[in-house]
Amino acid sequence: MAALGFATGGGNWFSALALGVTLLKCLLIPTYHSTDFEVHRNWLAITHSLPISQWYYEATSEWTLDYPPFFAWFEYALSHVAKYFDQEMLNVHNLNYSSSRTLLFQRFSVIFTDVLFVYAVHDYFCFLPAVSM
Ligand SMILES: *[C@@H]1O[C@H](CO)[C@@H](O)[C@H](O)[C@H]1NC(C)=O
Repeated sequence: MAALGFATGGGNWFSALALGVTLLKCLLIPTYHSTDFEVHRNWLAITHSLPISQWYYEATSEWTLDYPPFFAWFEYALSHVAKYFDQEMLNVHNLNYSSSRTLLFQRFSVIFTDVLFVYAVHDYFCFLPAVSM
């Protein structure tokens, strides 16, 4: 149904929903964060500070990099933005490191990635030929 809505130009509700969800996420920036926060901090640190040959062998943290290579490259790209927020999060030995700037970076990286994903999905359905059922 959503696909038909996009194809016929009825995507306004979708944009409003995407904006609403994004604003809600912004309100939740200072709230609770799970273990994933440390997992991603560690993966940012590994990909940023070590040669590729060590990415999958580094085991200072219990949260070793165990995702496929494309994801590791994604973390590597993010780490080059992360360094402008707080360089300390990119130290492999800074286990459980947190700061307000690190938190802000991690939240914004999720929001930015989600917006990119939503935009891609929206574009995909806009160019999809109309489907008749
Ligand atoms: C980091 O946090 C985990 C989970 O809370 C804990 O088990 C571990 O001991 C902590 N490590 C350090 C170095 O603080």
